[in-house]
Amino acid sequence: MTKYHIAWMPGDGIGRDVLEAAEIVLDCLALDAEYVTADIGWEFWCQEGDPLPQRTLDTLGSTDCALFGAITSKPRDAAEAELAPGLRGQGRVYRSPIVRMRQELDLYTCLRPCRAFAGNPLNYREDIDIVVFRENTEGMYIGVEYSQVPELFYDVPGMERIPRDASISLRAITHRASERIVRRAFEYARQHSRRRVTAVHKANVLRHTDSVFLKAARTVAAEFPGIAYDEANIDAMGMWLLKNPLDYDVVVTTNLFGDIMSDLCAQMVGGLGFACSGNIGDNYAVFEPTHGSAPKYAGQYRANPIATILAVRMMLEWLGERQMAEHLERAVAEVIAEGSIRTYDMGGKASTLDIARAVAERV
Ligand code: NAI
Ligand code: MG
Repeated sequence: MTKYHIAWMPGDGIGRDVLEAAEIVLDCLALDAEYVTADIGWEFWCQEGDPLPQRTLDTLGSTDCALFGAITSKPRDAAEAELAPGLRGQGRVYRSPIVRMRQELDLYTCLRPCRAFAGNPLNYREDIDIVVFRENTEGMYIGVEYSQVPELFYDVPGMERIPRDASISLRAITHRASERIVRRAFEYARQHSRRRVTAVHKANVLRHTDSVFLKAARTVAAEFPGIAYDEANIDAMGMWLLKNPLDYDVVVTTNLFGDIMSDLCAQMVGGLGFACSGNIGDNYAVFEPTHGSAPKYAGQYRANPIATILAVRMMLEWLGERQMAEHLERAVAEVIAEGSIRTYDMGGKASTLDIARAVAERV
């Protein structure tokens, strides 16, 4: 009996290159796992009209967690044009398989660790070590939008100032979702001996929604007296992050602010080649590099696989293989610090698989 069953989703473009790198590293770690390949991405949209076929959802339902590479997605018109001729005109609408995965599996935490590895020439500053918790299911991303003001809003106070042809997006924040994401952030802080959690908001403008978020955050914070808690406005946070990045530790926020802030933090520690993420629910998680399929590099093994290898590290920790996770992180740190094997983004000529082999040798 294998201990773990892991869904293996390379996806499109460089997603496949970087998952090959992950395979080299996992083979070397000898994780007691069986990998079940699952279909996701553009190819399946074109052939079947669904980038996340039901059989893939079934595989996710019967495994412990998933490792995902990246997918290609295109705007609506281009998507329709590339559908297999027999499937066109059937009213199929392309929907992001990533967003769908998050919703269908209730992967409500988006966890983005951003650590500056010593010796990385792309670091904004050494010693940055920020962990972003982004709420992954609601906020501005509920998908409720109107191309013009709907009639039922005509009498809503404040709407008299809004032209009728304005497009409208709704933002939904619940106490339940706020409470659970903040709780995950504090639990993480406690488990990892972190000193501080910062809740990021814009409550002075988004009075109702962000009051709900802040109230939940304060309630949870009171349960963790050993961990400092503070709050910051999203705009000021952008400024302070660039000015004093070492002041920040664990950061928790709503969906859109988290999306933006996690990319800002990722760029400070090396950018897309280093940015890993976990989409985590109560019983399932999908780990991935945050970059896309970079079609121009597909199959060329030029992509930096470190983001993916760090996603593997997150997966190991989530599975409870903490020691294995630590060994892997140390091996990555050594390869970066040594500096002789680097992909193009770090100014080197090494291939995706060269980096994976170098990490594997040091595990
Ligand atoms: P992208 O992340 O694929 O690539 C942008 C550029 O960043 C690349 O051209 C490359 O120069 C660099 N880059 C990305 N990953 C890298 C790595 N591992 N090492 C070194 N350099 C790297 O974003 P882009 O070009 O906007 O989108 C390409 C496709 O990917 C689109 O179809 C987009 O919809 C999709 N996408 C998918 C995501 C996902 O699967 N999670 C996330 C973002 C975009
Ligand atoms: Mg993003």
